[in-house]
Amino acid sequence: MKILVFGGKGYMGQEFLRLFPNAVAPPVDIADCNAVAVALDAEKPDVVINAAGKTGRPNIDWCEDHKEETVRANITGPLVLLDECAKRGIYWVHLGSGCVYQGDNGGKGFSEEDAPNFRGSFYSRTKAACDEILREFPAGPDGTGGVLILRLRMPFDGSLHERNLISKLTKYSRVLGTENSLTYLPDFFAAAKVLIERRKTGMYHVVNPGVISPYRIMELYRELVDPRHTFERLTLGELSQVAKAGRSNCVLTNEKLLSEGIKMRPVETAVKEALSAVAGLKS
Ligand SMILES: NC(=O)c1ccc[n+]([C@@H]2O[C@H](COP(=O)([O-])OP(=O)(O)OC[C@H]3O[C@@H](n4cnc5c(N)ncnc54)[C@H](OP(=O)(O)O)[C@@H]3O)[C@@H](O)[C@H]2O)c1
Repeated sequence: MKILVFGGKGYMGQEFLRLFPNAVAPPVDIADCNAVAVALDAEKPDVVINAAGKTGRPNIDWCEDHKEETVRANITGPLVLLDECAKRGIYWVHLGSGCVYQGDNGGKGFSEEDAPNFRGSFYSRTKAACDEILREFPAGPDGTGGVLILRLRMPFDGSLHERNLISKLTKYSRVLGTENSLTYLPDFFAAAKVLIERRKTGMYHVVNPGVISPYRIMELYRELVDPRHTFERLTLGELSQVAKAGRSNCVLTNEKLLSEGIKMRPVETAVKEALSAVAGLKS
């Protein structure tokens, strides 16, 4: 299986390259259809993984002030991949975000069939708009190809990477007490590998079962990593004091993933495992 990764230098792209060590990762702007075509024709991949996108640095507030670049990476680029992969019958994988919902859907959690209901940030609006188009292409025009959309949510792992949710939370003096769905990256990549090998298409919510709040994660951080770490509780009402764009807080179901026989560990277990790894790296 020859795999080509776009966005190979990013947080997710690097992990995909670790998952598939023989994959190639040409440094191509995905919104440049000629460059994408040249890369696809040169490499002739069986699978393309789109790990390119703009998430903003230091956070999604950046996207509010850089709308053209955000559209180019999060909408134009994936549409170019849709076109160029379909022309060649290539199966491809896109990374969506669960941050297109707000709330817990009356306690049920949001499924892949629920329409996005969070419009509070430009980043989330670009991710939702792109997903809504890509999900219409479970296969290319001749039945080959097709798109698998993996929606993840506030990813974390046991590394010291700046993009790891745990690293981000340790930098905040105030953290939210709202419970959310999250994605533990070791479980995400195990699930992604199975879905890709089965050539699944359509949308999947790839989140760990259960919910946890950032505040609880930091309590566990204090317990397992650094007893001197200090932080306070931030309420949803106070969020606008510390962030330019709105933030999604939501609960997703992963029943569709379960129906594939793919189990992810409970989120609090995963958080504790990640924190133990972080503690080991810091000691
Ligand atoms: N990390 C999260 O919290 C999270 C959560 C849910 C979904 N996702 C999705 O996962 C994907 C990857 O995110 P990430 O966390 O790995 O972000 P990341 O670390 O910023 O990596 C994205 C990579 O894509 C590159 N890129 C940006 N625009 C591009 C373009 N037009 N053509 C080619 N490459 C381009 C970036 O390069 P530059 O640095 O030069 O811009 C960067 O190397 C995104 O679609 C994101 O929406 C991420």
